[in-house]
Amino acid sequence: MRAAAFTELVGPKGVSIVERPTHEPGPGEAVVDVRACSINRHDLWILDGDSAMVSGDNLPFVSGLDVAGEIRAVGDGVSTVDPGDRVVLCPNETCGHCRFCREGPENLCESFSLFHGGLAEEATVPADRLLALPDSVEFTTAAAIPTAYMTAYHMLRRAEVGPTDLVFVPGATGGVGVACVQLADVLGANSIGTSSSAEKLATVEEMGLDHGIEATDPDTIQAAVEQIGEPDAAMNHLGGEYTDLGLSVMRRGGRMAVCGRTAGGTSEIGITGLFLGHKQIIGSTMGTQQDLQRLVDLTAAGELAPKIDDTYPLEETADAFRAMKERDSVGKLVVTA
Ligand SMILES: NC(=O)c1ccc[n+]([C@@H]2O[C@H](COP(=O)([O-])OP(=O)(O)OC[C@H]3O[C@@H](n4cnc5c(N)ncnc54)[C@H](OP(=O)(O)O)[C@@H]3O)[C@@H](O)[C@H]2O)c1
Ligand SMILES: [Zn+2]
Repeated sequence: MRAAAFTELVGPKGVSIVERPTHEPGPGEAVVDVRACSINRHDLWILDGDSAMVSGDNLPFVSGLDVAGEIRAVGDGVSTVDPGDRVVLCPNETCGHCRFCREGPENLCESFSLFHGGLAEEATVPADRLLALPDSVEFTTAAAIPTAYMTAYHMLRRAEVGPTDLVFVPGATGGVGVACVQLADVLGANSIGTSSSAEKLATVEEMGLDHGIEATDPDTIQAAVEQIGEPDAAMNHLGGEYTDLGLSVMRRGGRMAVCGRTAGGTSEIGITGLFLGHKQIIGSTMGTQQDLQRLVDLTAAGELAPKIDDTYPLEETADAFRAMKERDSVGKLVVTA
């Protein structure tokens, strides 16, 4: 079988199509014929050599978390899925026995990690991480959901976003950003989003963004947000200078969920406004398998339409990463096998 492997950690030109042996499933495993796998900034960090998880010693490395496809074979002891089933993978990997696995939520697991290997024609996965996919949900749509939408949904839950809340989403045009906007809308909340591109913002406005701000400079964004209102919550996947911006614009008692570092892994924040304003900063990573189940159900019910910018055949995986790196897309980029 073919895989789009990272053979050098030098950005998109480091992706090569390689031949890999096919697998037979071990106990508890399923082999999935991958139909679609979306990419995330997480994969791009690895490909750029900017992740502690993968080094030159681990190459070639097959990334790709968000697998949707059809089950080809199952191993001993698997009773929840059968060959031929249409499925989507929850990429969470947990130990199953630490206090957080026992008590929940599972994404707090002390050994939390993620599945990698979806950028290929087949993926061998733990069968109990597969969710049945209703016929009404296409593989490409399903592949867009796990990492971006689960993360966004969990952030909105952690920040206790509810009806009529105003949610601030700096960087509202990417995978997590668009998901935050769409899911805020599902929850009955309103949103303010930012982007460097008026054209991309217009697309997100068609999908439910209430207020778009075309700017990247925090002072300009702050002035524009102040014209709109005081956000109850901020969904911060950018980090860097956007953390203090989010804190500054939120109302007293506002909650900011943080999941990423695209604009920088460190942030300087104003402590005084944080404590005088009773504000909260909440770290959040991925979500639970039950979060993903809800998102698949919402999609099947027609209440959520995950935004896919474009699809790429496996051999053009490098182009998908180029589009992400060049900030040339709105929503998710999906590789099809
Ligand atoms: N902790 C977790 O569980 C988890 C899960 C998923 C994602 N994440 C993190 O969340 C972040 C977003 O991931 P993603 O897959 O959604 O990425 P993505 O699709 O590439 O995000 C693109 C968005 O980021 C903005 N952006 C890109 N580079 C920027 C920069 N230098 N300064 C300001 N804005 C910039 C873009 O703005 P423009 O519109 O201006 O181009 C666009 O809105 C990443 O840091 C990722 O690692 C974390
Ligand atoms: Zn655990």
